[in-house]
Amino acid sequence: MSAARVLDRIVGAVRGIYGDGSDEQSRWGQVGEVLQAALADPELRAAAGDWPTSHDRANRRYTNLLFYEDPDFGFVVNGLVKDETGRTPIHDHGHAWVAYGLLEGTETILRYRGPVGSELADGENPALEPDGRFTLAASQVDLVPPWTFHAEQAETERTVAVMVRSARVGRFAHRRFDPDTGRVYDHPGPRQIPYEL
Ligand SMILES: [Fe+2]
Repeated sequence: MSAARVLDRIVGAVRGIYGDGSDEQSRWGQVGEVLQAALADPELRAAAGDWPTSHDRANRRYTNLLFYEDPDFGFVVNGLVKDETGRTPIHDHGHAWVAYGLLEGTETILRYRGPVGSELADGENPALEPDGRFTLAASQVDLVPPWTFHAEQAETERTVAVMVRSARVGRFAHRRFDPDTGRVYDHPGPRQIPYEL
């Protein structure tokens, strides 16, 4: 199956899940299963070999490949490629749910506990504490609920993520945590680059 057909399959399944009216928790559990099944597709893995790295070092920012945006439900399908230096800041995704699937490589996911982003104002100084870390291997999905502080670190020379997000990044603020100042600040999130599979 070509990468475009894998995308069609993800989109069709996610639209079906949105249409069946389940609550958000259940919906995103199901979206994670759809994404996990897609990660096993060899043609998607092969196509990802051509995807550009998502580091935008000049702007201290990541980019996302934007494969699809749903006109009715607003969810998007993104790609993100890191090299071995890839370490995101501590961040949340605002009100968005994100199913973060790893297609290639290995990453360490770090979680934080404390006040959630929706309770914080820009510039506030929250007592965030590490709340564990785990390894995300290729073919696994990390389901990230809204307002969940976390960070992702590449552990291999190249990592490729495919994500389903409940909303397109750039249209709402994310929260980032600056460990040097101890403060959170608003950020628009990764720059979106339309990319045809
Ligand atoms: Fe994230």
